[in-house]
Amino acid sequence: MSKKILVIGASGQIGTELVEGLRDRFGAEDVVASDIKEPQVRQSGPFALVNAMDRRGIERVIDKHGISEVYLLAALLSATAEKDPAFAWKLNMESILIILELAREGKLRKVYWPSSIAVFGPTTPKDKTPQHTTTEPSTVYGISKLAGEGWCKYYHQRYGVDVRSIRYPGLIGWKSAPGGGTTDYAVHIFHEAIKKGAYTSFLGPESTLPMMYMPDAIRATIDLMEAPVEQVKERGSYNLAGLSFSPEQIAAEVARHIPGFKMAYAPDERQAYADSWPRSIDDSAARADWGWKPQYDLTAMVDDMMAHLRTKLKAS
Ligand code: SER
Repeated sequence: MSKKILVIGASGQIGTELVEGLRDRFGAEDVVASDIKEPQVRQSGPFALVNAMDRRGIERVIDKHGISEVYLLAALLSATAEKDPAFAWKLNMESILIILELAREGKLRKVYWPSSIAVFGPTTPKDKTPQHTTTEPSTVYGISKLAGEGWCKYYHQRYGVDVRSIRYPGLIGWKSAPGGGTTDYAVHIFHEAIKKGAYTSFLGPESTLPMMYMPDAIRATIDLMEAPVEQVKERGSYNLAGLSFSPEQIAAEVARHIPGFKMAYAPDERQAYADSWPRSIDDSAARADWGWKPQYDLTAMVDDMMAHLRTKLKAS
């Protein structure tokens, strides 16, 4: 049976790059991008404007294109969600429940939904955080991701829905802009370093968080979705680790490329969200079940980011 993919939230930080990755792998015409806003980049394949909370609208896109798999990425992230908790809960929950229902009704064969390190909270062990551990999130974003994981597991166990998920760490890429996360500083730093030679971090110097370079995250996502069904044993969401670093560590790496680079620190409300999250993640379940292995360490990531972003910013 042929595979037709719909990406909801395709104009965001992950969506922009995931659509590209999926189109490279499965062909531009077989990957439909959708969002409530226009894409950040020129599309090489179909695009539909649709709201992730509009079940009818999503069904129309599914029917029109004969969609068999959905990647649902639309969400409010940690910092934005705290500004409007009620709306964050509504968007983050309604969207996943619509897709799980469509899958239960047999309209979809497979679903991807991202969770986050934000499911963890102050009572979670901070280093090498295990796959199964205390999850008492303190942000509304984390609460919604934890509830979503519960729903995914429930729909899998009760209705046999093939839904797969990863708890992403902070994601860093040069192709798309991040939107509203606590880990966004690790993207902003590159833009400001190249443009101004200086950056003021909204997290303090020692805030170590789990992070990942986007090419690793995209590869992990597609690999998990392509893994044989019997290899996918976690039906809540998989822990995934790439690298862990603090603002002062990434600043030192950036300074290798930008001599005289100046880093300052002005922690804001996002510091509290960061403080509630782990420093590093144990991803042995993902490694054992479907062969996950990251490729980029901090130096390799910074070198690659710098090279691509310099070219991109020069061209713009
Ligand atoms: N990057 C996300 C955030 O900072 C964490 O999942 O909100």
